[in-house]
Amino acid sequence: MFDSKQCEPRMELEIRWLSSHHHEEQIRQLRSAAQSDGASLERAGSAVAAAGTPPGSRDAIHLGAFVAGCLVSAASVYLFRDESETLSRGGLPALPGTVAHCIGPVEAEPGRDPVVRRALLGTLQFMLLSLIRPDAVLVTIAESSPELCAYFTESLKLQEKAPPTSAGCRSITLGAVGPKEVRLALLGARQQYHAGSLDVSAPLPSLVKHLEREGRLDLVDIERLKSENLYIQPLSLKDELPRLAAQTRIVLPEQRSRLAAIEFPPAPADFLDLGAGPGVYVAALSKEPVFAGYRFTALDLAPEMVLFGKLNRPKFRWIQASAYDTAEPAASYDVVQGVFLFVHLMSPDLVLREIARVLKPGGLLYVLDVNDSTFRGPPVIGEMIEFHTSIYEGDRKVLDLLPGLASQHGLRLINKFASQLTNQAPGIDPVYSPDRIDLSREALWGMASLIGQRPEVRQKFDAAQSYYFSSGCDFSVELQTQVYRRG
Ligand SMILES: C[S@@+](CC[C@H](N)C(=O)[O-])C[C@H]1O[C@@H](n2cnc3c(N)ncnc32)[C@H](O)[C@@H]1O
Repeated sequence: MFDSKQCEPRMELEIRWLSSHHHEEQIRQLRSAAQSDGASLERAGSAVAAAGTPPGSRDAIHLGAFVAGCLVSAASVYLFRDESETLSRGGLPALPGTVAHCIGPVEAEPGRDPVVRRALLGTLQFMLLSLIRPDAVLVTIAESSPELCAYFTESLKLQEKAPPTSAGCRSITLGAVGPKEVRLALLGARQQYHAGSLDVSAPLPSLVKHLEREGRLDLVDIERLKSENLYIQPLSLKDELPRLAAQTRIVLPEQRSRLAAIEFPPAPADFLDLGAGPGVYVAALSKEPVFAGYRFTALDLAPEMVLFGKLNRPKFRWIQASAYDTAEPAASYDVVQGVFLFVHLMSPDLVLREIARVLKPGGLLYVLDVNDSTFRGPPVIGEMIEFHTSIYEGDRKVLDLLPGLASQHGLRLINKFASQLTNQAPGIDPVYSPDRIDLSREALWGMASLIGQRPEVRQKFDAAQSYYFSSGCDFSVELQTQVYRRG
């Protein structure tokens, strides 16, 4: 595994998707300058990809790392669709469906730095797996790079899929095949990305924006993503209704000062709540004076949430749809809100694109969520949170990534606020002070209880829970608000 402690912190690095057209020459120069295993691997990968494939039936996506404006490292992925024959001709396992074959990285001298490599590969794998969702991922790397082999086998849980070949250098093909293995690879890649992003200043480059610019958004299987609801899977409405109602009671008083600090568009205005759930939160919010005269639309993917919402909040317009593809007209909303939604998405990049599309120019995106990267407390609770992060396809640290990603969709961060949620209230009622909400011990644990609903986490959750209630320990986590304006 990469050891982040050995690396220079906050290196000035830029990570960018490279256009096949515009950057071909730069990639070629890098290849010839890099007298490394990576260069011959890159050639081998291109050859495999090209072998007998009719033009246009495979796609290449390249990611580059730049130091002081110079391309120092690049990694590539070739996408094959139902081309078992081509794959096996290239010495790769014959696999159906979409196969992502990753090659890399090719590195010039200054690019041969673990920080650069980790940032490049973490970004490539994370964005590829969370957006493209291949049926299988193969990675061809030089056998002479034990550090890279360890990264892919230990962190991404890839297994050997093809025997070593001699493609100008001894190479090995590792892979993940099928939904279970690909899911593990994604979770590992995301963890590596979050760990690695501490060492570099580079924001996550939007793959959605890149594909849009290249005219290749068809590479994203939107139909598949549209039916995905990570939140609802292990939960029941019966359990979640009281939890969401309690959450609304805690959060809304804190939000009042945030709302007052923001210049909302004047009424009449159109407000879209994405992932509205049963509508408890948005119904309470709609009564705030700042929203007098607003028209509210509540959207949720879960039919039971929409049914419940329609029955209880008939004045709202309710739609059952995915935040990835709302089917709402372009530039039709003044405000879009995502409250406790983003942590439950696997492809936030795509939702940001959809939000930028439906917002009017100058319109606001209002995001509210917890951020688990701000957890402070005893190791047993920290371990439960980290374990949950390692098995949950949603991302409870996504607010760290959002400002960088959103800016690439023309959504500029104009306000951010954070309130520390603690367990230090003297009684049962929450105590509000600037940037802090003190809850009772039970109430803070209740907010975290969603984590314990996944069966895999149960054991760690029970251990953390009994420690929490027997030790009298404190812990805290931030509730963060981010407001963006569409340019
Ligand atoms: C934690 S609940 C939050 C509900 C509400 N915003 C609140 O704060 O009370 C998350 C909601 O997002 C919905 N959801 C999850 N993924 C979604 C998606 N891709 N598109 C639309 N809704 C989604 C779930 O069905 C669920 O109702």
